[in-house]
Amino acid sequence: MKTQVSWLPTSLENKTLKVVVFVLTLTLILFPIIPLFLNSSIPSALDDRASVRMANKCDIFRGEWVPNPRAPPYTNKTCRTIHENQNCMKLGRPDTGFLHWRWKPDGCELPFFNPNLFLELLSGNSMAFLGDSVARNQMQSLMCLLSRVTDAVDVSPTPNEDSRWWSYPSHNFTLAILWSPFLVKANVADPVGPTLTGLFNLYLDEPDDNWTSQITKFDYVINGEWNKGGDCVRNIPFRRNETRLDGLNLDLYMTQMEEFRAAEKEANKRGLKFKLLDISEAMQLRPDGHPSHYAHLIDVNISKYSDCVHWCLPGPVDTWNDFLLHTLKVESVRL
Ligand SMILES: *[C@@H]1O[C@H](CO)[C@@H](O)[C@H](O)[C@H]1NC(C)=O
Ligand SMILES: *[C@@H]1O[C@H](CO)[C@@H](O)[C@H](O)[C@H]1NC(C)=O
Ligand SMILES: *[C@@H]1O[C@H](CO)[C@@H](O)[C@H](O)[C@H]1NC(C)=O
Ligand SMILES: *[C@@H]1O[C@H](CO)[C@@H](O)[C@H](O)[C@H]1NC(C)=O
Ligand SMILES: *[C@@H]1O[C@H](CO)[C@@H](O)[C@H](O)[C@H]1NC(C)=O
Repeated sequence: MKTQVSWLPTSLENKTLKVVVFVLTLTLILFPIIPLFLNSSIPSALDDRASVRMANKCDIFRGEWVPNPRAPPYTNKTCRTIHENQNCMKLGRPDTGFLHWRWKPDGCELPFFNPNLFLELLSGNSMAFLGDSVARNQMQSLMCLLSRVTDAVDVSPTPNEDSRWWSYPSHNFTLAILWSPFLVKANVADPVGPTLTGLFNLYLDEPDDNWTSQITKFDYVINGEWNKGGDCVRNIPFRRNETRLDGLNLDLYMTQMEEFRAAEKEANKRGLKFKLLDISEAMQLRPDGHPSHYAHLIDVNISKYSDCVHWCLPGPVDTWNDFLLHTLKVESVRL
């Protein structure tokens, strides 16, 4: 329990890091797509502020998915940065019902992502997503949502495909994914053996240099965790009374909450802010949003596993960025 807090390297003590956001993802299942891009007018940034004060009073992470007739905010045609394995429509997913739900928190509304407002709030700032392919999944959702108003320029300092840096010159905003699947130092357990054994030596009390060496360059850090697959053959969400976190998932969730609170306390002492994007309840209800069998082309010569970890784009993962923007808005109103 103490080790996670001690992850914070002393270099983090300089105040460049304004907010650290932890994303909790737990159980996951699946669903399909058929996006129709609706060229609705995008509200300007200020239109949204009034909603913040109201929503601030409710817990946006408790609620239910309700039907949403609106078309998804982007498609694989309007957004060019969707990862091949999460481009479920391209990969043959036949159903699109999973695209027509929105998250309705108990007692308030969660506004749809407003790219203008996001860019206005983040203007002159930088944000890093830290983690593995689930962190990348959320970052690509964010890039697709932003692509409605502006495009990014690849400014990656290295050719490493996993760690990419993007610039939004119109708003002097920098976005990056720092690849660090375990967050702690890791190496393949048996370097001369087959590398796909999935066995790694993990140094639980040593943060991975791949992110600690970069992190003070960023104002905001989003940290996405992953979990293993499962069966995700569904095409509509669960109602909240139909499933709940239990067993190992509940244990993990409780542990993460406990560690988050401890880390938050420690961070506050150092002048850093931690905010939690608690997506567990919402995503527990969305097994229909995973690529499942539509994570690979049919003719790929590999055994087809069902991907119940990642999320189709567009899809319910876009809601994580609604949560993210809402959290940033609440902070900006407080400032
Ligand atoms: C987008 O999805 C459609 C299926 O809905 C597919 O035919 C097309 O190739 C995809 N386009 C891109 C650019 O991914
Ligand atoms: C862009 O933002 C950085 C801070 O991240 C700042 O140092 C720089 O002056 C800004 N550039 C412009 C052109 O505003
Ligand atoms: C850190 O980056 C190096 C160089 O890109 C890579 O070889 C190494 O596997 C990375 N470490 C982790 C834990 O991902
Ligand atoms: C869950 O709630 C809905 C609406 O309140 C109800 O129609 C349904 O029967 C409930 N399902 C279960 C399994 O209790
Ligand atoms: C596909 O898998 C089969 C059976 O393992 C193998 O014989 C064949 O060479 C593979 N084809 C390609 C293109 O990799």
